[in-house]
Amino acid sequence: MADQSTLLIVKPDAVRRGLTGEILSRVERKGLRLESLRMMRIDRDLAERHYAEHREKPFFGELVEFITSGDVVLVKVTGREAVPVLRSLMGATDPAASPPGTIRGDFGILITENLVHGSDSPESAARELALFFEGQ
Ligand code: RTP
Ligand code: MG
Repeated sequence: MADQSTLLIVKPDAVRRGLTGEILSRVERKGLRLESLRMMRIDRDLAERHYAEHREKPFFGELVEFITSGDVVLVKVTGREAVPVLRSLMGATDPAASPPGTIRGDFGILITENLVHGSDSPESAARELALFFEGQ
């Protein structure tokens, strides 16, 4: 079966805490490939477009505030079943409900500061990769 690509974002809390290497290492050790990578500060407009599906949710303001609060690391991750495999490495949305052994389960406790983003479907991955890696 053809490889899939997905978008990983190492969120500002993880970058601030010096967990970027640990997170990328887990992705690589699993057997996924880091195909393209860059660090940037996401601005409000880009954050609102990335999280457009959550625009009406009560936590939208807090979500945009947080994701724009510092540098993030954007990674195009590629490999067999990359979308669900990355999601399984991440764990559940709420770190408190995420089992040990997952990134969120091992390093987080707050739902806002949950360390990583991973595309939730191949369609989301295509949209998000275009948003952050246009022309690459
Ligand atoms: P992400 O998009 O960041 O990878 O997270 P996810 O798929 O696991 O979760 P999603 O439902 O897409 O939610 C996006 C982000 O919004 C925050 N959130 N807060 N207070 C709340 O009830 C709540 N629910 C979601 C989380 O930080 C989540 O990562
Ligand atoms: Mg999501």
